[in-house]
Amino acid sequence: MLQIVFRSQLTRLLSYIDIQRLCLAAAKNNRKAGITGFAVECGGAFLVSIEGDPRAVRDMFNRMVQDPRHDTVQMVCCEEGLGRRRFGAWAMNVMFMDDDLFWHRVLGSSFSCDQMLSPRTMEPAFALGLLAMAYQYACAEAETAPSLPGGRPGRIPRIRHMFRR
Ligand SMILES: Cc1cc2nc3c(=O)[nH]c(=O)nc-3n(C[C@H](O)[C@H](O)[C@H](O)COP(=O)(O)O)c2cc1C
Repeated sequence: MLQIVFRSQLTRLLSYIDIQRLCLAAAKNNRKAGITGFAVECGGAFLVSIEGDPRAVRDMFNRMVQDPRHDTVQMVCCEEGLGRRRFGAWAMNVMFMDDDLFWHRVLGSSFSCDQMLSPRTMEPAFALGLLAMAYQYACAEAETAPSLPGGRPGRIPRIRHMFRR
């Protein structure tokens, strides 16, 4: 199992609806490829994790790098040999992080949406921690188990489970 975490910046701001559509299309592709994923977005900055068979994940990453809707795609970490998926609930889901109240309540008062735009997101521990906290929150809100038994590929998310606070 390979996990790639990357960050990127939208070249042009997209509406929530457009991002939800992008996520749904990604989930459908990922499901076919046995990939699970989770993303957080704030102000056009994305932090994304994709996991699955190493070849499928590398192919997907190479395809995404060429997507003109975002640029400055930077790999934050790449870990091979994982025994299980870290973000296995959905084939892809996204959580919008643009509410300071959410940051304050869930992540503590020293965090804010600005963190998503800061160089700290290039630190693997910070990026993984942020994704993990958002993921746990999203799973709890969607009443979804954080991992599917037997390492099955994740679900296609419902639009109402792509969180906007
Ligand atoms: C931030 C971001 C994350 C994306 N994540 C995925 C993904 O996990 N899976 C996916 O199939 N496409 C994802 N896409 C879309 C791909 O870049 C690409 O448009 C899509 O795979 C269709 O590729 P194709 O035109 O070669 O079929 C993402 C795009 C962006 C901007």
